[in-house]
Amino acid sequence: MNLEGHTPVIKQFLKIKKNHPNNLVFFRMGDFYELFYGDALEASRILGITLTQRGKSANEPVLMAGVPVSAHQNYLKKLINAGKTVAICEQVSDPVGYKGLVERKVVRIVTAGTLFDSGLVSEKTQTWLMCINLSSGISLIDVSTGELFWFKPDIVKVTDQAPCEQILTAISKFDIGEILIPDTKKNLNPNDKDLEPKNVFFSLKEIVPQNKIVPLPSWEFDAEKGTSTLKKRLAIHSLESIELTGVNSVLESMSALINYAEKNIGQPIKYLRFPKKIKQSQFVILDTTAQKALELNKPLYDNSEKNITLISCLDRCQTSGGSRLLNNWVLSPLSSNEFLLERQKSIHWISERPRLHSALKGIIDISRVAARISLGNTSPRELCSLSQNLIKIHELSHLIKASNNKYIETVYQSFSNSKLHSLVARITNCLSYDFSNKMKYGGFIQDGFDEILDNFRRIEKKSNDFLKKLEIEHKSKTGISNLKIGYSPAHGYFFEVTDSNKNKVPENYVRKQTLKNSERFTTPELKELEDKILFAKENAVEREQIIFGHLLDDLKKNTDFLFDLSESVCLFDVFATLALKISENKWILPELTNKPEIIIEQGSHPVLASNKDSLSFEHNYYPNDTKLNDKKSMMLLTGPNMSGKSTYMKQVALIVILGRIGSPLPAKKAKIGIVDRIFTRIGAADDLAGGRSTFMVEMNEAAKILHESTNKSLVLLDEIGRGTSTSDGLALATAIATQLAQKTKALCLFATHYFELTELEKTQNQIKNFHITTKEEEEKIIFLYELKEGPASKSFGLKVAKLAGIPLPIIQHAKIISHSTSSNNQEKNNEIKSARQKFESDLFKKIAKEICNIDPNNCSPNTALNLLFKWKKSLKNTDL
Ligand SMILES: Nc1ncnc2c1ncn2[C@@H]1O[C@H](COP(=O)(O)OP(=O)(O)OP(=O)(O)O)[C@@H](O)[C@H]1O
Ligand SMILES: [Mg+2]
Repeated sequence: MNLEGHTPVIKQFLKIKKNHPNNLVFFRMGDFYELFYGDALEASRILGITLTQRGKSANEPVLMAGVPVSAHQNYLKKLINAGKTVAICEQVSDPVGYKGLVERKVVRIVTAGTLFDSGLVSEKTQTWLMCINLSSGISLIDVSTGELFWFKPDIVKVTDQAPCEQILTAISKFDIGEILIPDTKKNLNPNDKDLEPKNVFFSLKEIVPQNKIVPLPSWEFDAEKGTSTLKKRLAIHSLESIELTGVNSVLESMSALINYAEKNIGQPIKYLRFPKKIKQSQFVILDTTAQKALELNKPLYDNSEKNITLISCLDRCQTSGGSRLLNNWVLSPLSSNEFLLERQKSIHWISERPRLHSALKGIIDISRVAARISLGNTSPRELCSLSQNLIKIHELSHLIKASNNKYIETVYQSFSNSKLHSLVARITNCLSYDFSNKMKYGGFIQDGFDEILDNFRRIEKKSNDFLKKLEIEHKSKTGISNLKIGYSPAHGYFFEVTDSNKNKVPENYVRKQTLKNSERFTTPELKELEDKILFAKENAVEREQIIFGHLLDDLKKNTDFLFDLSESVCLFDVFATLALKISENKWILPELTNKPEIIIEQGSHPVLASNKDSLSFEHNYYPNDTKLNDKKSMMLLTGPNMSGKSTYMKQVALIVILGRIGSPLPAKKAKIGIVDRIFTRIGAADDLAGGRSTFMVEMNEAAKILHESTNKSLVLLDEIGRGTSTSDGLALATAIATQLAQKTKALCLFATHYFELTELEKTQNQIKNFHITTKEEEEKIIFLYELKEGPASKSFGLKVAKLAGIPLPIIQHAKIISHSTSSNNQEKNNEIKSARQKFESDLFKKIAKEICNIDPNNCSPNTALNLLFKWKKSLKNTDL
């Protein structure tokens, strides 16, 4: 880099930029962050700010764009959303009275995975920084709260399919902002063509965009360093209590993760929480396919105007932490009943006291405030509001006393903790609630709290009183009745005289500034007073900062307590929010059983039923029953298009999720048993980015279901096989339904337009036919939405098409084709039947011939056994 000929400031910038080639550099100059050259160009394009050319450096014009420091967070947000990272370069020496170039240093790098500022983090969701190393050790951190998670798949070869699936499932509930990977192997680049699709690293680009995958040098992945950092940050002597002793793959990943986060935020994360292992067996697994299809927290189509999801229908949390916890619950329902029963009791208890919900109104995000206290990134105003919140929380404790309920009792203990009082006392003794100044002008420490500060303030006040006297004195001395003493930050104190009185100004007045209609003067006496006042003011502000620093130090010792308190607030908020569903919507708490069963009486779709706007008609949602258990594990649904099959299937899955988070649900009565996983194969979505066709995606998902479902899984299969030719589709649908009913015995809702499948009920005990009712009226179909036993009588595809506006001549043409193809189909079925019969009779003949050729007296037991195996294998594909 040639620095010759550049101005000192540009030289300084270029040196800093050299160390941050991939970040935009926000270069602090007074009240602005300036961007130069390429950075300026890029920022002006993304932010729509003016690009200027001011002055020259090394004979070239300097491209510049700037954002005001006071509003820089809005700009940062836009840049981060546009996939950029920003290095914040501050003036680290005091520019006032400093001779020469002000010293500057990058104090922080703002990236999507390491945000903590109140203006940058999203309130109701969490964004995670994730790290994965070569041996699949995974760690995740939310730097805005210090929460830390880890995971390690059972098999550790990153190229195997199994760990890939395990990893993707384990992290599916985390909203990930950035992923750190080792840069050691060339083929870890997710864009590398040679990378196997089932490689974990290949799959990462499905989680975050390519520019959010950050390769780090291999030495960053150091288990020993990970161990010592964890011990230091958590103040523990051994990793045993957190189950991480010797788990090197995870420790390596943690070392890179924490180091990257701390480097970016520019200081140690002293508020790091105890790492939690992601234990999949505790949860009902919901992979990203299921999360998307069921629209748990994101609508299926991102551009849909109505953001109607299960979360949006449930979330009336009063706190943002509560919303985050609820989101977390919905994405990780529990597989065992132990905690759920306690959750249900708490919800029930609160539902009888509905006013408790509003008691939390206005409570701030305590965990994030605690993290900011630890980082020293808070303000007196935020601390005042914290103390007001602590008072409110303490008052609330009286309302939840003696609940006789495990969770509420824990919440009560934390709300009534005496530490709340001492923290409030510490803050309120020190801070003044009604200051309006910005922090840098002081005024936020109470009078009487600190003697030294009081003294500076006294001097300032005395001098101010003296100023007033001086003004009166000079008015009478000069005879200028409108003479006044004023102050400006740039020129200090002055006497201001309007132009009409200029001739009365005494000789000893020294002119300071000329304005449009007046002039400003000073005198030695005023200058002396000014020095006194400014000295006292400066010292007072400095003293206030010191006092505030001490207050922060004291509060930092209590961040663990604040995190615990925040957890209680969030838990209580979620309980109170779910309780509203009982008191306001008449939802019920289900019976939770230990068997694989889902029995629902008059269940409704939780989202559609409570959201009339989302229904395509005027009348109410029609409730239906569900009965799935080990005897009848598959409900085979038929019915015309638009009759409500897909809606019904999703309704059952959503009700199960509600049941398995301990929530009430929309039904008259329900029994929700053990569920280990919810699988969905709904809708036709192709994966152009991943290079998979619609049918390929469909079959990938079906294969996963066939491989991994158990008799405790809930499986939704919506029109499987429709992505290919009718004969292949029907054959696949039949085979898949049979396998699930006969072998897997998964609890399954199977919707189809292949009426041939309804025949399966006759041969498969596990399957029961259902249809959703409609009635025909003068060429029109009326949808009744009532689920009834038995198959549907006919498909109304053409009538629905007419309803949707397909022109009449086309409908008539389609009717003719449909008629001829259905008779063709009959022929085709007969063909398939006779081909099959021929195949079987040939096989039987072949086996019979082989039997005849055996001489039992000369056949060894081994040969006989092998023959038996061979015949059994060849008979496997027959109807026997
Ligand atoms: N139980 C119900 N009560 C009232 N309205 C319902 C009910 N179930 C579904 N609906 C309404 O019917 C619409 C169509 O339902 P859905 O998409 O589930 O039909 P479908 O049978 O799956 O159709 P297709 O075969 O074309 O996929 C829904 O968008 C909803 O507005
Ligand atoms: Mg459908």
